[in-house]
Amino acid sequence: MDDDLITMDDLTNEEIISLLDDAERLLPVAHGSEYLPLLQGKLLANMFFEPSTRTRMSFEAAMKRLGGDVINLGDVNSSSAVKGETLYDTMRMVDGYCDIASLRHPRQGAAQYAADACAIPIMNAGDGAGHHPTQTLLDLFTIRQAHGRLEGLTVALVGDLRYGRTVHSLSHALARFDCNLIFISPSQLAMPVEIVSDLTNAGASIFETEDLYGAIPDADVIYMTRIQKERFPDEDEYTKVAGIYKLTAADLTGAKGEMIVMHPLPRVNEISPDVDGTRHACYFEQAFNGVVARMALMCRLLDVTVPGGDA
Ligand code: CP
Repeated sequence: MDDDLITMDDLTNEEIISLLDDAERLLPVAHGSEYLPLLQGKLLANMFFEPSTRTRMSFEAAMKRLGGDVINLGDVNSSSAVKGETLYDTMRMVDGYCDIASLRHPRQGAAQYAADACAIPIMNAGDGAGHHPTQTLLDLFTIRQAHGRLEGLTVALVGDLRYGRTVHSLSHALARFDCNLIFISPSQLAMPVEIVSDLTNAGASIFETEDLYGAIPDADVIYMTRIQKERFPDEDEYTKVAGIYKLTAADLTGAKGEMIVMHPLPRVNEISPDVDGTRHACYFEQAFNGVVARMALMCRLLDVTVPGGDA
């Protein structure tokens, strides 16, 4: 695979499957029931220029469970970014301090820019409205865990498809595994036309609608997303669509028994808490899977073999 993970295009389908297999074998390590210090002596830099709970903490948990250590940028307002230091200069420093780095940044394209500045592997932990490929790895892991396969599933992606980097990365990956994609959003937040066009040209089956409830019976996966207030240039535009979709347990009565509800989290009000107790709720398990997915990825980028796979 590539030396960095910037978009899902850096991975072949075979590499994705191999990473998911590695992640599966690392489950006992992520749960803390097995100690496997594969990354002892390795140092991860978590460079988060935007807020995060899951991505930052699961990177940290993954590295520490594998015996390595972590340094964090910390509060960006306490960093030299507020003195005007460029991302390029910051990443050049980090390149010397550690063995691998994750980067979250509000600017689309920032992860590629950082990768060009660094010799160490860079993992895109979310670049503006661009991509979030490590989230996609854990999403694919979760889907395969629930359904036993990725191929041919019907996946409904719901909410902010315009600015949502999680759904941008995930839709590209799902199309490569011949999934049927249902894009559900208000017109203001529709999937960007260039992404729909790329996916269609690659042979993906796509249906676009505003109707969440009509799609529920057909779906194998319902992937809810937050309407991201912070991405709207105009607060009035946000107010028009805020709270447009809210999934409740009652809405799921017509769903397939094995259908799973996912969400990259944080949720605001897209999924009612009464869904949490249903057989369909999968989002907290999904968040946990970030640890194994990121363990597998860091091992791969640092050329460390996860034991138990094919020789
Ligand atoms: N899913 C996700 O990226 O969550 P955080 O913003 O909390 O990292």
